[in-house]
Amino acid sequence: MATLEINDLHVTVETDGGPTEILRGVDLTVKQGETHAIMGPNGSGKSTLAYSLAGHPKYTVTGGSVKLDGEDVLEMSVDERARAGVFLAMQYPVEVPGVSVSNFLRTSATAIRGEAPKLRTWVKEVREAMERLSIDPAFAERNVNEGFSGGEKKRHEILQLELLKPQFAILDETDSGLDVDALRVVSEGVNRVREGGDVGTLLITHYTRILRYIKPDFVHVFAKGRIAESGGAELADKLEEEGYEEYVKGGATA
Ligand SMILES: Nc1ncnc2c1ncn2[C@@H]1O[C@H](COP(=O)(O)OP(=O)(O)O)[C@@H](O)[C@H]1O
Ligand SMILES: [Mg+2]
Repeated sequence: MATLEINDLHVTVETDGGPTEILRGVDLTVKQGETHAIMGPNGSGKSTLAYSLAGHPKYTVTGGSVKLDGEDVLEMSVDERARAGVFLAMQYPVEVPGVSVSNFLRTSATAIRGEAPKLRTWVKEVREAMERLSIDPAFAERNVNEGFSGGEKKRHEILQLELLKPQFAILDETDSGLDVDALRVVSEGVNRVREGGDVGTLLITHYTRILRYIKPDFVHVFAKGRIAESGGAELADKLEEEGYEEYVKGGATA
């Protein structure tokens, strides 16, 4: 079983006032098969962590390491990270004009599997995955995320997750903006992938709501650019009652 190991990760982002440190020493180890919820107030750096792991060029790693089974992830390009099995479902999925969902999925699957999926089985695979996520088949011919509602974008992210079967899935606020029915559909999708048994999941969320559907093995409180406390599922119940106040005392949230 592979392990994703983050050690003392420091990351800055370029702002008008120069480089600003957002991540201030993140330590986290995720094994395949485990689900870790990362919870924290807005602006604490959760998305920055997600982007940094995926290799977004806006974020500069100034210290620490990220290893996937001992291999240096920070040395890898965005493509190499995806091929190594790291998947990011973005908080704000981007539009890809001129590229249909169907083409996008096939191109991604080809890149990640190292060969084009056989057309006949692939078409069936996609159709069935779309059905499970209650995505209208007509979406296959629409441009990626163009004119999608918030909920449709999130379901499309989970569609990719189900088809690409990564080793590590980073789900950044996949629950945000979903009504109860969509939340259930999306959570069931995540749980199907987890039941496969060999995905390590980083479930980034502001609210405890999604944890009613997706049971984490570990809960981490993220505040001011680092993990402030770690525990089991019971830590989420405490956050539900008490909020994040105790963690953000004494200054700004980031
Ligand atoms: N691309 C960026 N440009 C400027 N500031 C950024 C950028 N990304 C993140 N930040 C800043 O970093 C801090 C953490 O943001 P973010 O990682 O999105 O937090 P969270 O996801 O926990 O809400 C915020 O103060 C935010 O304004
Ligand atoms: Mg965020």
